[in-house]
Amino acid sequence: MPISKSHLRTTKRHSGMIPHIKKKHKQFQWQRKHLLGLRELSREEITYILDTAEGFEQISTRSVKKAPPLRGKVVVNLFFEDSTRTRSSFTLAAHRLSADTLDFSKESSSVSKGETLLDTAKNLEAMGIDIVVIRHTAAGAAKLLSKNINACVVNAGDGFCEHPTQGLLDIYTIRQMRGSLEGLRVAIVGDIAHSRVARSDMWGMTKLGAQVTFVAPPTLLPPDVRQLPVQISYCLDEVVEKVDVINMLRIQFERLGGNAFPSIREYSRYFGLTVERLSRAKDNVIVMHPGPINRGVEIDSKVADGPNSVILQQVKNGLAVRMAVLFLVNQAAAQT
Ligand code: CP
Repeated sequence: MPISKSHLRTTKRHSGMIPHIKKKHKQFQWQRKHLLGLRELSREEITYILDTAEGFEQISTRSVKKAPPLRGKVVVNLFFEDSTRTRSSFTLAAHRLSADTLDFSKESSSVSKGETLLDTAKNLEAMGIDIVVIRHTAAGAAKLLSKNINACVVNAGDGFCEHPTQGLLDIYTIRQMRGSLEGLRVAIVGDIAHSRVARSDMWGMTKLGAQVTFVAPPTLLPPDVRQLPVQISYCLDEVVEKVDVINMLRIQFERLGGNAFPSIREYSRYFGLTVERLSRAKDNVIVMHPGPINRGVEIDSKVADGPNSVILQQVKNGLAVRMAVLFLVNQAAAQT
């Protein structure tokens, strides 16, 4: 793709918005025009995104919440599944960087007439888009798109595979609270089998030095769990006192086939984060949840809204993280 001199000047000028990153990462240059997952990223790449996000945080505190790095660019939200946080966050992130946005939803598009993912993306690309943010039910959908279109592709959740920006914002939030993930013990609790968040958290957190334990009944663990870099526990009471972070996952009732547990009441009794259970955790334990929450199922309202909870801080941080991701993939595209 030809790049104009003014585009290069714009990119260069706005790289200068984040000088502390250049100082910290002297030999490093971001080169990925797609963000597909945290599994493929190095520790330094993850740290680079987080440091870039720190540089963008202050834009959201201004009276005019806008900066120009993506001026003239078009970001498409290509969502084949529902979303509140991720979709709104990407839209706001794009607007804060001065990009135009196009919102696509499966229900109101020609997908309902049988149009394929690739045809949909190629038709949108013909209108001159620069970044596609895609959420899809199929694992690998973002990767497939990245191999077939010229625009940058950002994975906003693909099947049970990855949700990299959720993983990044979770890591960002822990780093903000504790300074580093090195040596921290993290419990990820609940419906791991259907959770792309659990996978992105696991890849990212372990690369940054955390020890991750998946806590769930055997029926809610993925079949390949023994090949993953995690410890496994079937009992939340066994780990609750030992960990620094508890990340509670939603039971994905819409994806559960058959009976994964006898009853919701029984699940909550053994795997729900209640006030009583939390009282046995470390005083400064960080309680997280990617949302949406099933209040009273995996987490009690008093815990979700309590002093250890950083759930809304996660959402807030997601904006800076997504600004960083959009900025970096666009920068990499400009350099290729
Ligand atoms: N955490 C998350 O992905 O939420 P949404 O489904 O609302 O985007």
